[in-house]
Amino acid sequence: MANPKPHLSPLSFFSLLLLLHFPALSFAQTLFVFGDGLYDAGNKQFVSSNRVDASFPPYGMTVGEATGRWSDGRIVPDYLASFMNIPHIPPILNGTADFSHGANFAIADATVLGSPPETLTLSQQVIKFSDSKSKWSAQARSEGVYLFYIGADDYLNFAKNNPNPSDDQKQAFVDRVITAIEAELKVIYGSGGRKFAFQNLAPLGCLPAIKQENGNVQECVRLPSEMAGLHNKKLLQLLVELSLQLGGFQYSFYDFFSSIQHRVIKPKTYTFETGVAACCGTGSVNGTSCSTHNVCAEPEAYLFFDGKHLTQEGNLQVGHLMWGSDPVVVGPSNLRELLFLPLNTTIILADIQEAMAATRQMKIESLYDIKIMESEMENQWLYQVGKAVSFLI
Ligand SMILES: *[C@@H]1O[C@H](CO)[C@@H](O)[C@H](O)[C@H]1NC(C)=O
Ligand SMILES: *[C@@H]1O[C@H](CO)[C@@H](O)[C@H](O)[C@H]1NC(C)=O
Ligand SMILES: *[C@@H]1O[C@H](CO)[C@@H](O)[C@H](O)[C@H]1NC(C)=O
Repeated sequence: MANPKPHLSPLSFFSLLLLLHFPALSFAQTLFVFGDGLYDAGNKQFVSSNRVDASFPPYGMTVGEATGRWSDGRIVPDYLASFMNIPHIPPILNGTADFSHGANFAIADATVLGSPPETLTLSQQVIKFSDSKSKWSAQARSEGVYLFYIGADDYLNFAKNNPNPSDDQKQAFVDRVITAIEAELKVIYGSGGRKFAFQNLAPLGCLPAIKQENGNVQECVRLPSEMAGLHNKKLLQLLVELSLQLGGFQYSFYDFFSSIQHRVIKPKTYTFETGVAACCGTGSVNGTSCSTHNVCAEPEAYLFFDGKHLTQEGNLQVGHLMWGSDPVVVGPSNLRELLFLPLNTTIILADIQEAMAATRQMKIESLYDIKIMESEMENQWLYQVGKAVSFLI
């Protein structure tokens, strides 16, 4: 007491500042990944009795190693982990991996419904999570991010088996998928999960494999894209409902659908030579049978690496958009915002969500027609510029 001189060294002063700011600095160090081949980091090779292409070159060619990822290099969860400043999240089926920052349950050919062989449905992935959850503290589980890309194969199978469904049949199938997803989200919420991030479904009729199968490579195939559009709309509604229903339920919804549309139509704007053909494969748009005998020299010039999966460059762009872009592309929070959102708070931005949902509904009608898509995008662009101009004035 006698000595009024402050004793704080610069270092302890800094520590004090750190302490004061600690709540703002604290964010999730854990990432849980659920989904299909787009997010598979190597699970498939542990359950398959056949050769898994992704475990051999040319997969992994850009990073010099085939790891079971369906790309020439990194996948979206890898980039998101890097942005979170944690190591890449290993596949749960690799018993010797380090799971201290989470686990990747995604696996090629995964579906929401049915029980396809040599893969894990979404519900089986969530059971694996429940079985292994003691690996993570309750705090890590509630601060962690749960990332999803699932349903593409459900709709591709549906479209194959039902070439001319009625509107009621389409909606009934989407409802079944969404109801099943809802049940799994509630299981994870019950285990303490609070932060959910969804990459919505791509316009599936624009995948090179699907176009090639259909014989007309000029246009995206209507039904698979339409199903994805219906799904995305319902999925967003589900997330809005859950955030009203379940205390502290937080989410990030990324519009992958539009990102792919834009890149298919205007690849050069996004640094690609083409968004139509894949880098690796055979057929009119390299839609199938990717091997070392038919791979392009510069994957970064392509959006698609094989008939159904993106190149590392495509995944990098997606990772950036999910992590840091605006509500037009990802809302109501991007991943960075989701990480920092305090637990037990819920963001409800009904107007933005409704606006996003409305735009998406408009697009569903025209998304298979490239000319109409182009003119809609021009209009959106003009609208944006118009808004910016009126703001400046
Ligand atoms: C499993 O993980 C370990 C540790 O990261 C790694 O060394 C090994 O290559 C992985 N095994 C497979 C088959 O990917
Ligand atoms: C298909 O892949 C080959 C490499 O095998 C590539 O040279 C070719 O440009 C690709 N096709 C198209 C239409 O881009
Ligand atoms: C959030 O709320 C639950 C009860 O609803 C409580 O047990 C928990 O401690 C709260 N967490 C934080 C970080 O406030």
